[in-house]
Amino acid sequence: MTFIFANWKMYLNNEESLALAKDLSAQDLGSNALTCAVFPTMLSVAGAVSILKNSPIAIGAQNVAWAPKGAYTGAVSAQLCKDVGCTYVLIGHSERRHIFGEKTEDVRKRIAACIQADITPVLCIGETREDKERGTQKDMLKTQILGALEGLDLGNSGLIVAYEPVWAISGSGNGDHCNPAYAQDIHTWIRSEISTLTSKFVPLLYGGSVNQENVVSYTSQKDIDGVLVGSASIKSNSFLTMRDAVASSL
Ligand code: PGA
Repeated sequence: MTFIFANWKMYLNNEESLALAKDLSAQDLGSNALTCAVFPTMLSVAGAVSILKNSPIAIGAQNVAWAPKGAYTGAVSAQLCKDVGCTYVLIGHSERRHIFGEKTEDVRKRIAACIQADITPVLCIGETREDKERGTQKDMLKTQILGALEGLDLGNSGLIVAYEPVWAISGSGNGDHCNPAYAQDIHTWIRSEISTLTSKFVPLLYGGSVNQENVVSYTSQKDIDGVLVGSASIKSNSFLTMRDAVASSL
């Protein structure tokens, strides 16, 4: 199974999000070997669910609160996301960590909330450019992995991990090209770290400046099970070109 996940971030307004969902719903995306999901803003999640309900494209949220319910102004729980039809939630995206100051402890609580609500968390991890230059990227990643997952009982819950080096993310990061061989090495290492925490198969996605031209160079790597795409996923033609390129490479 290969995953193509589209992180729409806060690039689109509600009307644009729903128009993009409509464009995608009109396409024949039927490939059993691919799992596609889109992650609109919280405002557009319910609308996207109703547009895509008869399509194979799943919906995810970009973040959730860890509490299930109650006096949490401005928050949306994992259970609420599940109730409206989300299958996945991004947790610990670098923009949440670095712009909004979310700590590893917050990430852990959000993952636990997803497990509780039976919604699949997509744990995002990634080193900064400074970590990479110092050669401490694995220390950083290990802290993020253990901080989020160590000792958590996944039960029957699914889990996906997205490796997104901050220096490779467009917009909020440096948008530098990440060599697919480098990403593959890191994924192999992440796989072995994760295997000490769970016996489940955990799909590993790569994210950071993935686009129509380079997507297959990542998805063809042995330990890269799919991609999490930001800016190249907010136009239906670029999303569909990526999807076709990956489908025909399988
Ligand atoms: P990008 O974003 O594809 O625009 O680099 C990826 C992400 O942050 O999920």
